[in-house]
Amino acid sequence: MKIYKCKDYDEVSKKAANIVIQNMIQKPNIILGLATGSSPIGIYNYLIKAYQDGLISFKEVKTYNLDEYVGIDKLHPQSYSSFMNRVLFDHVDINKNNIHIPNSNSIDINDLANEYNKLLFGNQRDLQILGIGENAHIGFNEPGSSVSNQSFVTKLSEETRKANARFFSSLEEVPKYAVTMGIKNIMFSKKIILVATGNNKAKAVYNMVYGKITEEVPASFLQLHPDVVVIIDEEAALELHMETECLEF
Ligand code: F6R
Repeated sequence: MKIYKCKDYDEVSKKAANIVIQNMIQKPNIILGLATGSSPIGIYNYLIKAYQDGLISFKEVKTYNLDEYVGIDKLHPQSYSSFMNRVLFDHVDINKNNIHIPNSNSIDINDLANEYNKLLFGNQRDLQILGIGENAHIGFNEPGSSVSNQSFVTKLSEETRKANARFFSSLEEVPKYAVTMGIKNIMFSKKIILVATGNNKAKAVYNMVYGKITEEVPASFLQLHPDVVVIIDEEAALELHMETECLEF
């Protein structure tokens, strides 16, 4: 694991975006794994800017999102499909056929997870962007979910529902289930960039980096991946006791 400790959210986003941009320039038909939530929004803003400045194009890029809620329509403003359109896809030249997000409108959700899994194995991600939950989940692999899981339907923990309630008008509205890539799917990406900011992530970051590799800390499995870049701000790095090092990439 390579760890960069940057000053704040903006520095973290810029550094992560620069790595993504370099990889996109080197491989215009790159396959990206994408995350939702607050952590990657800054990265997406920098990617949109790079597109507007003519540095990168999404014309040949394929994307696979980590997860989607079950139980809300794909057109719901808080579905991850709507979220991704709002924060990235509507602002760049991506071919909509190249966007892949589990379809929450599907009638048989288990079939859907299997279909998504086939797609994921046929399209190895060159680069996966990740955030991390306060309980160290990655994607929606909550503590205790099996490491051998591939794309599956998962019950969201109460902790995760509470953390995501800020996007909905009440806790009751937050879906109870989601379809997510399994840890196996995430580990299949050639490169992984994980971003985390804020002191509420400090414990999860510490356990991911130094903790025992266990299903109770899903992010700890990233210790076994050969190419993981962790980019965190000073608050998320509080328990790591390391020097600030956020060099220009
Ligand atoms: C999002 C996802 C989650 C989030 C995590 C952190 O697609 O899979 O694992 O990355 O819950 O969320 P934020 O960034 O909102 O703190």
